[in-house]
Amino acid sequence: MIDQIQQHKQDFESRIGQVSTPEHLKQLRTDFLGKKGCVTETLKAMRGLPPEEKRAVGKHVNQLKAHVESRIKEKTAELAGQSQGQGAGAFDATLPGRQGPPGTLHPITQVMDEIIAVFSSLGFEVAEGPEIESDYYNFEALNMPKDHPARDMQDTFYIEGETVLRTHTSPVQIHVMEKRQPPLRIIAPGKVYRCDSDITHTPMFHQIEGLMIDRHISFSDLKGVMNIFVQQVFGENTPVRFRPSFFPFTCPSAEVDIQCVMCTGKGCRVCSQTGWLEILGAGMVDPAVFAGVNYDPEKWTGFAFGMGIERIAMLKYGIHDIRLFFENDLRFLQQF
Ligand code: PHE
Repeated sequence: MIDQIQQHKQDFESRIGQVSTPEHLKQLRTDFLGKKGCVTETLKAMRGLPPEEKRAVGKHVNQLKAHVESRIKEKTAELAGQSQGQGAGAFDATLPGRQGPPGTLHPITQVMDEIIAVFSSLGFEVAEGPEIESDYYNFEALNMPKDHPARDMQDTFYIEGETVLRTHTSPVQIHVMEKRQPPLRIIAPGKVYRCDSDITHTPMFHQIEGLMIDRHISFSDLKGVMNIFVQQVFGENTPVRFRPSFFPFTCPSAEVDIQCVMCTGKGCRVCSQTGWLEILGAGMVDPAVFAGVNYDPEKWTGFAFGMGIERIAMLKYGIHDIRLFFENDLRFLQQF
């Protein structure tokens, strides 16, 4: 009988190995543990055995029974795990991931890139400088000594002592000229800081500086480059004018206006009825600036210009409040 029990165990093992559905498993259970199952039958058959033999056989049957029960329990759990994997809410690693809405470049970055592309096509290369500057680079080297009234034009954030947050990108000119010799054609995009806040000013904003130095550069070169820039960014037929102005680091200096994009020169609230909008400051590099970086003003001449990106973007897209750029409201940003 003991041999028979061993045989049952082998049968059971080979059958459970093939079970793949709960129905098969149920059948297997019935065949072994059911009323007419082989384990039950063996137990019944044991009754007529003499006590010695009964005990020995009983031990084997009980072992078989315990084995069958525990293997069926295991298999039940295994099958349940598999079916969960196929039901609702199951994790399917082969499905493509859920896509979030794709991001886009910030409008300021877009306008910045557009302006950089225009000047790159004219042979200007991009230069960068620090946002935390010394008094020397932000003012002094740009021909604004300590008591110069032009320092009041810019509401400076002082960090401590002689250290400031740069109020414009013009100090990058100085860094570049200290390191390199002419001819030079650079633009310097970046963040600048002024203690000022209303619908057309934010304490941080962006500028692009331009600097071109070579032999025989004249004011007409400046005008030519500015005209190309305006045509590319605001459209072919946008009228441009130069107005005399003052910057300590350029002489002569000018402000460049374009015809008002809102009223095409008729006069409106945006252009204060003048028909013109100021877009940038520019001029011929002052010989005093050249002296500070040991360039010979008899040999080299050049022009510089600087513009606020937010202002250009506001005019280009007809935005009235500069603060919209920095509120991160998707309803605003998604329009670009
Ligand atoms: N740095 C000046 C400003 O921020 C702009 C400027 C740059 C003017 C270069 C002339 C030449 O207002």
